[in-house]
Amino acid sequence: MDSIVVTGNGPLHGQIPIAGAKNTCLKLMCAALMSDAPVTLTNVPRLSDVLTLSQLLESLGCTVTLSDEGRELTLHAPEITNRKAHYDIVRKLRASFNVLGPLLGRTGEAIVSLPGGCAIGARKVDLHLMALEKLGAEIELREGYVHARAPGGLTGTEIEFPMVSVGATENALCAAVVAKGRTVLRNVAKEPDTVALAHCLSAMGAKIEGAGTDTMEIEGVASLSGVRHAVIPDRIELGTYMIVPAIAGGEVELLGGERRLVGALIDKLEEAGVTVEDTDAGLKVSRGSNRVRAVDVVTAPFPGFPTDLQAQMMALMCTAEGSSVLEETIFENRFMHAPELIRMGAEIDVHGGTATVKGVGRLKGAPVMATDLRASVSLILAGLAAEGETVVNRVYHLDRGYERLEDKLSAVGAKVERIRT
Ligand code: EPU
Repeated sequence: MDSIVVTGNGPLHGQIPIAGAKNTCLKLMCAALMSDAPVTLTNVPRLSDVLTLSQLLESLGCTVTLSDEGRELTLHAPEITNRKAHYDIVRKLRASFNVLGPLLGRTGEAIVSLPGGCAIGARKVDLHLMALEKLGAEIELREGYVHARAPGGLTGTEIEFPMVSVGATENALCAAVVAKGRTVLRNVAKEPDTVALAHCLSAMGAKIEGAGTDTMEIEGVASLSGVRHAVIPDRIELGTYMIVPAIAGGEVELLGGERRLVGALIDKLEEAGVTVEDTDAGLKVSRGSNRVRAVDVVTAPFPGFPTDLQAQMMALMCTAEGSSVLEETIFENRFMHAPELIRMGAEIDVHGGTATVKGVGRLKGAPVMATDLRASVSLILAGLAAEGETVVNRVYHLDRGYERLEDKLSAVGAKVERIRT
């Protein structure tokens, strides 16, 4: 298993290009199952999750062709030859649960493995199932699989989600666009990934209003056409690399970065004393020799502070002047990076969903291990600001969500090396 060795070496300068968004790309790939014509995605990130989902889509009868050095993906499912998404893949990649709505919508039947728990929380799927039942599906849970059937097709209805769920909104949206009549979805996710899915479906002929607001209204259509669609920039990769100059000092320009994708992070970075400027090519982030100030953070659905940047922000707060409180409201178990940061000299107290971080200035390198994607990258960030060498183990998590991380960090002067063990 590979490890990444980071040696803190002071201020970093240069440019980092931001790739297409993982969580948008995966949802658009699932939606490609809804059309019998080719769907071509451009600005595709080169990530292992994209390859894993491709395998699942191929098992359902979709041909997947990568071109332009992995940046362009053409998905073509003239016919769905298999309606079962196997546990072996769904357990590796929770986003594959997003084939449920598209498969059910197109064929009237889907058998999709329950994803099971994961490192950051229980991650139930009750809201996905509630929404599909309201659209007329019969749902049964058998032997670890969701069996969903709607032999006569789905029918539009009104659905109010009791809490915001990105995945449940997206499964419901995909099913509703091909249901008979009008569907109103209330309290939906406003995440850019979900809005991008709505835009792609609209470009395929779906009739959707209100994407990006609390309520979406959908008028069902009989079928969807093919499309060529660009994946939006990855706001979590963007936010992660914005924290690089904040934690290590220096000035880094994030090529393709857009303020609207990371507004809540920018507010917090500016409050902490970090400068963020718009440039022609993206966003420029800089910090001089002053330490950052401690700021409090509460995670929330978009446009709030993303849970997927909480670990990275905690790494930054470990180096701040003063104490900060980070509250995680989306997932019940998303502080696994805290004990690893403590191994690097951080002072962190976790009580339930709240972590109090007392800034210590300089962290110290140590061997550390991470249990999920965002936790792993927070340890790399911490390593950039630490004295000595940090060895991050189990980096396969990183390859799921950050393409060429070592190259991107090396390009701004960081000492980051992958070792094969
Ligand atoms: N929830 C339920 N019931 C449901 C669905 C969700 O109780 O039926 C709960 C979850 O357990 C969680 C909360 O609702 O506590 C929010 O979950 P949500 O459904 O919004 O998350 P998701 O769709 O499973 C996506 C991203 C995550 C990101 C979250 C929140 C993808 C593939 N994943 O997950 O991304 O953290 O939204 O923004 O889009 C990552 O990229 O590292 C990652 C974990």
